[in-house]
Amino acid sequence: PDERTLVLIKPDAVRRGLVGEIISRFERKGLRIDAMVARTMDVALADEHYAEHVERPFYPPLKTFMTSGPLVAMVLSGDQVIEVVRGLIGATDGRKAAAGTIRGDLSLSNRENLVHASDSTDSAKRELALWFPELS
Ligand code: CMP
Repeated sequence: PDERTLVLIKPDAVRRGLVGEIISRFERKGLRIDAMVARTMDVALADEHYAEHVERPFYPPLKTFMTSGPLVAMVLSGDQVIEVVRGLIGATDGRKAAAGTIRGDLSLSNRENLVHASDSTDSAKRELALWFPELS
């Protein structure tokens, strides 16, 4: 019974030409891509997606960043995919993320950290419904 998770390859990754590199890491791990789309997040979607962060001081610049250009949204599936993907992407702050992880190898920022992934089964369920309602 495989899990599903939502991954966003953020606008910094698109601008830097790292989409292929990042998708390749997920593919080489053995995860499956069930759905994928390139789109630009609007402010309403940002507020819903980051509902738990809207009151935080880092949210206004985060919203500006996340709506600044196209991103790639994807549904990944596989055995314990939520935890597996969190491991592959590394800690939030690219400066502190372990070498070998996507952020550890490719990001030097706490905000422009290349990738978002659902952090629990509850958030995966919520985020998948938000981004890919046709799948649920
Ligand atoms: P993400 O996994 O998408 O979840 C929330 C995002 O907010 C996080 O990745 C970062 O892009 C951003 N973020 C979290 N904490 C901070 C912070 N202290 N300063 C700036 N951005 C942050």
